[in-house]
Amino acid sequence: MQRRSLKIIKWLFILAVAAVLPSATISWAQGKTALSPAAKGGQKVFEQNCALCHFADQANAKIGPGLKGVLKNKELPYSHKPATVANAREQVEKGNPQGKPMAMPPFGNKLSKTQLDNLLDYLKTL
Ligand code: HEC
Repeated sequence: MQRRSLKIIKWLFILAVAAVLPSATISWAQGKTALSPAAKGGQKVFEQNCALCHFADQANAKIGPGLKGVLKNKELPYSHKPATVANAREQVEKGNPQGKPMAMPPFGNKLSKTQLDNLLDYLKTL
């Protein structure tokens, strides 16, 4: 009788794990990849215009500073201005001719307003 109930408990445990695991895996995967459509568009803009000089997934410098957490941190990594959307946008639009180790080019004329909006939405997620 005791062995039998142990067996039942074992099966209940296996069933519980089997029931929980897939949904846990799905929500973990969604947390990793769920970008809003705007941010997804911004990711594309980033890959085509910024990834050459900036990592999105680490804070180490590539040519310019790594941008992981760029708008979650207190300050922007180079100028140390407050890490606001407005300040990040200004950097993207105007670039910085005095930047080191090299100038960052301006994107204000190269990207549309929507592309800039999307890009900033993406930077918020880093
Ligand atoms: C040719 C290389 C290059 C490209 C392309 C480039 N950057 Fe930069 N970026 C830099 C460098 C170098 C710096 C650090 C010096 C400076 O501020 O100019 C920098 C700095 C920054 C900063 C920090 C500014 C601060 O005030 O600390 C942000 C944010 C940034 N870039 C975002 C972007 C985004 C977004 C793009 C794409 C639209 C982009 N960069 C494209 C080279 C580049």
